[in-house]
Amino acid sequence: MNILEVNHLKKYYRSPFLRRKVRAVEDISFTVKQGEIFGLLGPNGAGKTTTLKSIVGLLKPDGGEIRLFGMPLDIPQRERIGFLPENPYFYRHLTGYELLNFYAHLFKKHITAKKIKEILKMVGLEHAMHRKVGSYSKGMLQRVGFAQAILNDPDFIILDEPMSGLDPIGRKEMKDWIFKLKSEGKTILFSSHILPDVEMICDRVAIIYRGRVVSTGVLSEILQEKVRFIEVTIEGLDEKTLENFGKVIRSGDKLMLRLSSEEEKDRLVSFVVEKGGRIISVAPYRKTLEEHFMETLEAQ
Ligand SMILES: Nc1ncnc2c1ncn2[C@@H]1O[C@H](COP(=O)(O)OP(=O)(O)OP(=O)(O)O)[C@@H](O)[C@H]1O
Ligand SMILES: [Mg+2]
Repeated sequence: MNILEVNHLKKYYRSPFLRRKVRAVEDISFTVKQGEIFGLLGPNGAGKTTTLKSIVGLLKPDGGEIRLFGMPLDIPQRERIGFLPENPYFYRHLTGYELLNFYAHLFKKHITAKKIKEILKMVGLEHAMHRKVGSYSKGMLQRVGFAQAILNDPDFIILDEPMSGLDPIGRKEMKDWIFKLKSEGKTILFSSHILPDVEMICDRVAIIYRGRVVSTGVLSEILQEKVRFIEVTIEGLDEKTLENFGKVIRSGDKLMLRLSSEEEKDRLVSFVVEKGGRIISVAPYRKTLEEHFMETLEAQ
């Protein structure tokens, strides 16, 4: 089942200086299926935040259609979605606990103090829950923002740049939390321009650029499309002996060659063994999302 369907979404902003409309989102279409982790990828200004805000109903689209849980957006589904905004703004004078307690009261569902504390503990704010949010670091704000997004036990969680402001440990934790949500049967949509983060956790992605979707797909298919090259590291031979196999790169005692097919690699390996050299390593390099992203953008 599709949790979300976005069809030809359009959104313009009025520029007060230029006295004309500024395109934010030109034509965005994608669907998010039940139980998947979906990544919205694109460089700064691509339209990710505008798209996510339109989905949660904070912005009114200028065109296109959005369906949430199979229904048009004007049927309120607020209780079933959780949202982490890009730059969450919180009441600075509340403590982390008070802030979540405040949000808890906005929901129809009763959320216990025990549950709030559990979530704060999960996001690593157990020791800071009675400190004012105004004194939190960027990473701590991101954590409390994430806690707020999952407080209501939503079915569909939308996160705008969830890794931003987090250190490497925090990023790892955020990924673990996202996986945990998925294992509980939740659906997650998040935006990012940090490709390695996305590469690790998304089932499918949509790459957006200048307000348009330029590529959508199952990440493993996009990435395993082809092995780009196989790098073979050799010891005990000289460059001259290997020159027929292509460009030889020397690094200390070792020589490295990049081969474009399995057959060539097999030929090289047999040749090296025959000549009395040693194979140190054979490493296939797949296309990374970063490369895919750059190629997609260059093709525009
Ligand atoms: N309130 C606004 N008024 C005018 N233009 C806006 C406004 N918000 C966004 N834009 C413009 O719309 C475009 C898309 O912005 P958006 O914030 O959706 O991009 P993004 O992909 O989230 O970027 P980032 O990675 O920097 O967060 C940009 O050109 C931006 O300048
Ligand atoms: Mg944004």
